[in-house]
Amino acid sequence: MVVLGIETSCDETSAAVVADGVVKSNVISSQLVHRKYGGVVPELASRAHQRLIIQVVEEALARGAAQKEDLSGIAATYGPGLAGALLVGLNFGKALAYALHIPFAGINHIEGHLYSNFLGEEKPSYPFLSLIVSGGHTMLVHVESEFQHRVLGQTRDDAAGEAFDKVSKMLGLGYPGGPAIDGQGSQGDPRAIRFPRSFLEEDSYDFSFSGVKTAVLYYLREKKLDPKAGALDPARLADICASFQASVVDVLVAKTMRATRELNVRDVCIAGGVSANSELRRRLGDEARVGGFRLFHPTLEYCMDNGAMIAYVGWLRLRRGIGSGMDLAAVPNLELA
Ligand code: KG4
Ligand code: ZN
Repeated sequence: MVVLGIETSCDETSAAVVADGVVKSNVISSQLVHRKYGGVVPELASRAHQRLIIQVVEEALARGAAQKEDLSGIAATYGPGLAGALLVGLNFGKALAYALHIPFAGINHIEGHLYSNFLGEEKPSYPFLSLIVSGGHTMLVHVESEFQHRVLGQTRDDAAGEAFDKVSKMLGLGYPGGPAIDGQGSQGDPRAIRFPRSFLEEDSYDFSFSGVKTAVLYYLREKKLDPKAGALDPARLADICASFQASVVDVLVAKTMRATRELNVRDVCIAGGVSANSELRRRLGDEARVGGFRLFHPTLEYCMDNGAMIAYVGWLRLRRGIGSGMDLAAVPNLELA
C-alpha cells in the first residue's frame, strides 16, 4: 500500500511517500521568508505553500520512485495549524485523490508527531509514553495501543518551542529560536541565573512556560541589557541561554519521569521540533540509563514538521479502511481526541 502524505500546517511545505509503513521519500521545503519577521507570518505561509506544493509533491514522488498511478491513497494534515496554510495541502490532497479515484485521509498533525518515532528502524512497543514538544504544542500522552491514547496534560499557555522562539527574539537571536538557544546554551553555565520552574499542582501533568519567558524579560530589564542597542557580551548571552534552557528542560524531564514511573511504561518517546534539543535528549538519555526504560527520539528530519509522519498515519488509517470524506474542512484548533 503506497500512501502520499502532505503537510502544510505551518511554515514547512512537505510531502512524502510511505509504502507498507516504510518511508520511501520525505521532501521538506522550509520557508525562509519568515526569518526577517522573527516569526511565521500566516499570509506569507499560505502563499509560499501555494507556490511550492506542486514541486514538493513531484519531488517526493520522484525520490520515492512512485508514479501518481502507483498511489493507493493520499493523506494530508487538516489541523491544527494556520487556516490558510492548512487549506493549501488539504485541498491539494483531496483534489489529487479525487482525480485519481483513490481514498483520502485527513490527518491530525499532533497524531503525526505522536507516531513519528515509528519512522525509524527500531519502533516503540505499546503501551508507551510520548512527550510532544513543538512550537505549537507541549503535551504528555499515554498511548495504550494504536489510536488508543489519553492526554495526561498539556500546556496552559505557551508551548515549549514558543517560549524558545520568544526568548530568542528578546535576545536578538532570530527565528526559529530553539536551535539558536540550544547552540548558545551549550557554551554557557545552566546554573548562572536561577529562572523559575513552573511545576503547577503536585499531581498535574500540565505545563506553563509563560512565567520563565517573562522572567528572562525582567532579567534583561533589571540588568539593563538591550540586545537591540548592541550585542550582548557572548559569555553572558551563553549563560542566559543555558539557564533558560535548563529551566524548561527541568520541568519537561521531571513530568516525563513522574509519568514514566506512575504508568510503569518501558518505552518513552519524545517528538516535535523541541525533541531536537540536545539538553533534553541528554537528560532523558541519562534517566533512561538509570531508570531502565527505552528512550526514542526521531531523527532531525522527523522532529520538525514533515510529510512522512502524515503519510505514515495515513497508511495506518487507510489500511484499516478509515478514510475521510471530500467535505472534510480544515480545523485550525483541532485537538488530539
Ligand atoms: O514541530 P515543529 O517543526 O513545528 C510545530 O509543529 O510547531 O517545531 C518547531 C519548534 C520551534 O519552536 C523551534 O524553535 C523548536 O521547535 N526547536 C527547538 C530546537 N529545534 C527546533 N527547540 C529547542 N531546541 C532545539 N534544538
Ligand atoms: Zn509540528
